[in-house]
Amino acid sequence: MPANDNSKNVIVSGGARGIGRCLVRTFLEAGHRVYIFDIDEEELNHTTKVHLEKYHKAGKVESALCDLRDVKDMRSKVQEAAKFFDNKIDVLINNGGIASPYWKDGKTMEDPDTFPEWQAYIDTNLTGPFAMSQACIPYMKNKNKDAVADAAHGQSAGPCIINIGSFRAKMSDPNQEGYAASKAGQLGLTQAMAISLGHLGIRVNLIAPGRIKVAHESKEGDEKGEGWVGQHSEKDIDDHPTNRAGRPRDIADAALYLVGAGFVTGQDVTIDGGALVKK
Ligand SMILES: NC(=O)c1ccc[n+]([C@@H]2O[C@H](COP(=O)([O-])OP(=O)(O)OC[C@H]3O[C@@H](n4cnc5c(N)ncnc54)[C@H](O)[C@@H]3O)[C@@H](O)[C@H]2O)c1
Repeated sequence: MPANDNSKNVIVSGGARGIGRCLVRTFLEAGHRVYIFDIDEEELNHTTKVHLEKYHKAGKVESALCDLRDVKDMRSKVQEAAKFFDNKIDVLINNGGIASPYWKDGKTMEDPDTFPEWQAYIDTNLTGPFAMSQACIPYMKNKNKDAVADAAHGQSAGPCIINIGSFRAKMSDPNQEGYAASKAGQLGLTQAMAISLGHLGIRVNLIAPGRIKVAHESKEGDEKGEGWVGQHSEKDIDDHPTNRAGRPRDIADAALYLVGAGFVTGQDVTIDGGALVKK
């Protein structure tokens, strides 16, 4: 692999499967180094050592089991990642979380049994990104005066944090209170962090995906040889003014853009094929 002076050190949470796995692969293909956190050991091993074997053998990607509901675990795993990156983290992508938007087993919010699920959504999808960002800041902030001057003169985009939210922050189907509230909370978190971290040279933005089919981005998908195309019905296409359904790569491309977008912070970018504006 050619040496790349623009190579950045990137952490992706929830990178073992789904959108996260595509984010990891896309950043590696673009010449960056990546550290993956996930709670699913089997998927994490498969992604790191089988799916991304050539990058792992080249020392470009490493991973650790990490629970986004356990702050001690996050703090210690960020230290491990920082060691891999020689104490410099350029990009944190808070992608991992509970991605299913509905209460389990067809429950509605009238059912008191939704309460622990509510807490799990808030802990994983909102407190997780806050605590993960907090743990990464010491390794992200620009201590180098030249780098700060470069950024001020438009020469570099500097470090950044990207939260992966959801269009469900702004549009719900029934029985999505926990998911929607956790994702709407990320909007406030993103703008507040963008303001607080600006003086450290850290930009903070959010990508809100719409409906993205991800089954092929997994161990089972690899073993069955499944692709993205086979997962769609006519409805998946009709629901979108773009006349096609969403790909994980659509989210990864937006993330690559934000990493290089030095004049963009505190924004939420919706990548949903126009679903939010369709009646
Ligand atoms: N796929 C979509 O249609 C869609 C739409 C809008 C938003 N999103 C968001 O995109 C992100 C990725 O979603 P996805 O569809 O790839 O989901 P996914 O379920 O395929 O992947 C989520 C990953 O997060 C990991 N994870 C879950 N809980 C964790 C924890 N406590 N600690 C560490 N890791 C944990 C899982 O193991 C998994 O690898 C999520 O934040 C989701 O809310 C997805």
